[in-house]
Amino acid sequence: MQNAMSETPGTTLSKSSAPGSSGDAGFLWDFWYPALRSTEIRGRKLATAMLLEVPLVLGRTDAGRAFAMRDACPHRGIPLSYGRFDGQAIECSYHGWKFDGCTARCTEIPSLASEDKLKVERISAGHFPCEERDGYVWVYMAAPGSRLPETLPAVPELPKFSEKYKITHLECDLPSHIDHGIIGLMDPAHGPFVHQSWYWRSRRSIHEKAKNFEPIPNGFRMSRHAPSSNSAPYKILRYFSGAETTTMIDFVLPNMRLEEIRSGRLWFSSRATVTPVRRDLCRIDFVAAWNVPFPPAIFRLFAKPFLRQDQETMIQQAEGLKHNPNLMLIDDADRPAKWYFALKAGLLESRRTGVPMAHPMSGPVTLRWRS
Ligand code: FES
Ligand SMILES: [Fe+2]
Repeated sequence: MQNAMSETPGTTLSKSSAPGSSGDAGFLWDFWYPALRSTEIRGRKLATAMLLEVPLVLGRTDAGRAFAMRDACPHRGIPLSYGRFDGQAIECSYHGWKFDGCTARCTEIPSLASEDKLKVERISAGHFPCEERDGYVWVYMAAPGSRLPETLPAVPELPKFSEKYKITHLECDLPSHIDHGIIGLMDPAHGPFVHQSWYWRSRRSIHEKAKNFEPIPNGFRMSRHAPSSNSAPYKILRYFSGAETTTMIDFVLPNMRLEEIRSGRLWFSSRATVTPVRRDLCRIDFVAAWNVPFPPAIFRLFAKPFLRQDQETMIQQAEGLKHNPNLMLIDDADRPAKWYFALKAGLLESRRTGVPMAHPMSGPVTLRWRS
C-alpha cells in the first residue's frame, strides 16, 4: 500500500502494492529506529530485537557502550545471542569465533592452525551503529548492501524545555504493517469511536474541526493552536498553569509523531514512533516528558488504556486485512495519511534520483473534519 494514491476524494489503496504483497516490504532504510529500552541491556546480558526484519543482538560493553550486530554468525548462521559475552566480545556458541561488540569484527577463530592465512579481522558479523537517547537504544538501519555514510544523522531526541522534568515510556505491539500503524497514529477520526472514556471524550462530543497544517522538512505540522476544549490532558495543564494552553503536532519521516503542549512555563512533550519489526508487525514506543507536578504513575494509568484501545482496534483490523480488501483514503480526515504516503514516495524517489525531495504540500492548508 506504500505509494498507492491519487488525488480523488475517495482514494482507493491499490491491492497490488498492499504491504508485504511483493518482495519489497515497504520499509524506510537509512534511519535510526528504537530497538529496545536501555534497561533491557544490563551487565553482560545479551538481548535480541528485530528491526525491519533484521535480527539483532544487542549488549553493553563493560565500558558501558551499547552495541548492536546482526544476530547470525557469519560462519554458519547460528544466532550470536546464544553465545557468551565477556564484556567486550561475543563468542559464538558453535565454533567459538569471537566478534568485538562495538565493531562486529572477528577477533579470533579458535580452529585456525598457526600457518593459516585467513584474515580474521576481515570477517564481520554485521555492525549496526547504536546510540542511547531518552532511555532507548537506537540502531541505525543502513539499507542492506549499502555503506554507512561518513556522518550519520543525529539520533532523535525528545524535546524538553526545562532542566527538571518527569519522563515515562509506554509501548505496544501492533499486528500490522508499518503503514497501517502510522496512518492509525495520525488518524483524527477514530478518537470518538475508539477512545471513548469519561476523561477523554465521548461520541456525543463530536464536532466539526478546522486545523491548520504546514509543511516541514520530511513531514508536516499541525500548526500551534489552542486545543479543543473537550480533552482532559489539556485541561490539566491549564488547571496547573492558569495560562493559555497551546499544542503543536509534527509528523516526521520515517515514523514519528511529536506533540508539544505549552502552557505558561509548563510543558508536556511526547513522541510516538512506530517501528517496523516485520512486515506484519510493528511497535509503538511512546515517551512523554513534562514539568507539570503530575506523577508518571497517574499519567500511565490514563495513557495505557488509550494505547490498548488502539491496539485492540488494530488487532481487529488485521483480521480484515488478511483478506486483502480494497481500502480508501477520504478527504479531509485521511489527508494526513495521503501526505504520509506521498512523503514516503517522495523520499524514495529523491534517494533514487539524487534530486531534492518533492514535498506533497505547497504551503499551509486548513483541513476540516468532524471528530
Ligand atoms: S557458527 Fe559461529 S563459529 Fe561457527
Ligand atoms: Fe488512537
